[in-house]
Amino acid sequence: MPTIQWDQSMATGIDTVDAQHKQLIAWLNDLLAAVSQGRAGSEIQGLLDRLGTYSATHFGHEEECMVMYKCPAAEENLLAHKDFVVTLAALRDDFERDGATAHLVVRVEVEMLRWLTTHIKRTDTQLLPCVKAAQS
Ligand SMILES: [Fe+2]
Repeated sequence: MPTIQWDQSMATGIDTVDAQHKQLIAWLNDLLAAVSQGRAGSEIQGLLDRLGTYSATHFGHEEECMVMYKCPAAEENLLAHKDFVVTLAALRDDFERDGATAHLVVRVEVEMLRWLTTHIKRTDTQLLPCVKAAQS
């Protein structure tokens, strides 16, 4: 199962946001491994719980940063975060109903892990020039 790592192409210019992205990516990699290997339901449930709580805290922090640095992606970012929350809830429902199916594995990889890293690269990184401009 491919593991995605944080790299400089995901840098936002804000250390706390980058650290939270690294943590989210690490837990999504763990979740992908857990569902693809059919690990214990309690382990998968624990990861889903942790991702739900942590992503809510992270999104709030990042949204505040975008407003503070007057980032043009702020609105688009807010909507994308809402989509992620909906997807995570849908995945949780799927898991509770059907368990760790092959379909769930694909959804975790495509709709969570790949979605998040693409979102970071396209949207969250729009913070970087705003942070730099504020510092100069
Ligand atoms: Fe974001």
